[in-house]
Amino acid sequence: MLVAGSTFAAPITIKFSHVVAENTPKGQAANKFKDLVAERLAGKVVVEVFPNSQLFGDNKVLEAMLLGDVQIGAPSLSKFSRYTKKLQIYDLPFLFKDMNAVDTFQQSADGQELLKSLEKKGLVGLGYLHNGMKQLSASKLLKVPADANGLKFRIMSSEVLEAQFHAVNANPLKKPFSEVFTLLQTRAIDGQENTWSNIYSKKFFEVQPYITESNHGVLDYMVVTSKEFWYGLPEDIRAEVKTALDEAILYGNQVAAQKGAEDRQKIIDSKRSEVITLDDAERAQWVQAMKPVWKQFEKEIGKELIDAAYASNK
Ligand code: LMR
Repeated sequence: MLVAGSTFAAPITIKFSHVVAENTPKGQAANKFKDLVAERLAGKVVVEVFPNSQLFGDNKVLEAMLLGDVQIGAPSLSKFSRYTKKLQIYDLPFLFKDMNAVDTFQQSADGQELLKSLEKKGLVGLGYLHNGMKQLSASKLLKVPADANGLKFRIMSSEVLEAQFHAVNANPLKKPFSEVFTLLQTRAIDGQENTWSNIYSKKFFEVQPYITESNHGVLDYMVVTSKEFWYGLPEDIRAEVKTALDEAILYGNQVAAQKGAEDRQKIIDSKRSEVITLDDAERAQWVQAMKPVWKQFEKEIGKELIDAAYASNK
């Protein structure tokens, strides 16, 4: 065990691994955390940030964390299904109407309880970090669910997202984030779902002629660490690291709100991709097609939890 604070002890290193670009809400939050720790815990703790799947991709980061090869990550809530089924709630299509509803639910007792859902697996949820609502991009114009018929969509590793695309007769393929651009560019797949900042920063809009502004689901993160690492930290250091992280998350959430709007506009201005809006009747068709997915996962997630999340739309 490293002893922090003593003259000869090496600083504790926290490797923070993520898959997105630095100019995204998560990238900015991670960098902010690094800066705050450098300011406040100089000589005691060093944060190293590895963006763009440089250190670990989607499918490896949690395993690596349990092995002690990385200390903090912030995978999307869709990527935890091997560790808990409860977090699947966040993938249910059209459950949250906007980020305010997501935030309300996350801050509620139920939402906070979900941060603990990984503890049996040796992981600790340190907080939620926002990205935003997902949009559907495709090589084809998507107005109504029938337009997605037979198309191949990349999804994150989530059974709910798989069911969501099956519900519109499309073919979902679970692929790591790092492969999405090439899969789209080579036309190995027809489309994908993501937030404005991910679509912009990874240039998906340059290889997808249409983006339907569907806001059909949320892409948010849980900042996680391993129990072993976290509770192995000296208490005073742990408290300071947590404070820095909480501040970085607040900052990241502000970036998320701002970037969502900005990156959407940049995509429109680029004229590389056409942003398609849905009228009420078209949107209602997507809701009608996808909403039965809730029932499919009700047993695993819990009806009461789904009802509580839905109530946060008020
Ligand atoms: C994705 O795989 O599409 C996202 O989870 C990437 C991310 O971390 O925002």
